[in-house]
Amino acid sequence: MKILETIHSRRNIKNFKSDSIDKELLNKWLQAGTMAPNHKMTEPWEVLVIGEETRAKLNHKADFFDAPVVLAVLSKHGATEIETYENLITTACFVQNFNLAAWEEGVGTFWSSVGNAQKNREILGVSEEYDVVGVIGVGYPEEINAPKDRKPIQEKIKYLP
Ligand SMILES: Cc1cc2nc3c(=O)[nH]c(=O)nc-3n(C[C@H](O)[C@H](O)[C@H](O)COP(=O)(O)O)c2cc1C
Repeated sequence: MKILETIHSRRNIKNFKSDSIDKELLNKWLQAGTMAPNHKMTEPWEVLVIGEETRAKLNHKADFFDAPVVLAVLSKHGATEIETYENLITTACFVQNFNLAAWEEGVGTFWSSVGNAQKNREILGVSEEYDVVGVIGVGYPEEINAPKDRKPIQEKIKYLP
């Protein structure tokens, strides 16, 4: 796939096949994540691979639709407020790099924000110095939803003098 095709065809997947994900492929996509633009090279991301026992304890909304792999992606706080803010931005880029790398190879992701809920943070053992940028279900899609329309970008562009 070409990059634009990958970007435009990607969907948040809610229905996965049970087929397992090759660990080397998973690591390759995570490594692609690390090529995210990264101010001061803080590399603030950390990845938790959530096992069955932990997954079963998570809030039920975090059921992840039978995805064979569930990850939590954390962003470490920086030394200053602005560094923490920039770390969050770069970790979101990490997640999207990962999502697109997986998608290009036919694997879908479900990005959920449930990880930052206090109860789930505790279950995941996340300390105060981290934000949970996403809990990500990963697997071969059983079903690919229709695209959700976006507004034309022209509506969002302002030209300054
Ligand atoms: C930071 C973030 C948090 C999200 N959290 C959730 C969530 O908790 N539950 C959910 O169903 N989708 C969640 N999503 C996915 C969005 O709902 C989804 O990307 C959006 O509906 C557009 O669909 P698409 O990605 O298939 O184009 C999240 C996406 C982002 C970027």
